[in-house]
Amino acid sequence: MHSFSLNSEVIGNIFHFAKPLGHNEKRGSFNLGFGFLYYGAVRAFRPKHVLIIGSGFGFSVVCFALGLKDNGKGILSFVDPSYDVLKHGPLKTVGGRGMWDKPEEVKKHFRLFGIDEIVTHHKLKAGEFFPRFKALGLPLIDIAFVDGEPLL
Ligand SMILES: C[S@@+](CC[C@H](N)C(=O)[O-])C[C@H]1O[C@@H](n2cnc3c(N)ncnc32)[C@H](O)[C@@H]1O
Repeated sequence: MHSFSLNSEVIGNIFHFAKPLGHNEKRGSFNLGFGFLYYGAVRAFRPKHVLIIGSGFGFSVVCFALGLKDNGKGILSFVDPSYDVLKHGPLKTVGGRGMWDKPEEVKKHFRLFGIDEIVTHHKLKAGEFFPRFKALGLPLIDIAFVDGEPLL
């Protein structure tokens, strides 16, 4: 059985719960904008491992991970220290919303889309994640998407 996750109910849920922040999306016409590219890149290249650095509400994470889900293979590592623009200020956070503080809430958020077994959140800065990469035993990265601060 082949699956295609992007039906109108799922797209509605993406707009509602994984709120895109600047991906050329158009809510009124159920158009995910660059989200379709994220999903499509995963379907086309069939990566084993996708890495995402930074996401406000998980829009990019969900679009990439739904592609992995529909491919039936691959994992996604999501690195975000859960900065909150209100607590840490705009420069440091790149506009973060503190969404990724509690592991059980993070899991619940991604379970909404059936991707909680595919996505692993690392509550770290990118600069803390990369030195640990080998020790974590992760496969090589096939696609990386950077929407946070990659060097700090
Ligand atoms: C708000 S997102 C950018 C908005 C994005 N266009 C979206 O749709 O979600 C930026 C994220 O980068 C994260 N971030 C900031 N510095 C980071 C770092 N050094 N490593 C990884 N993520 C970082 C923040 O916690 C924030 O959640």
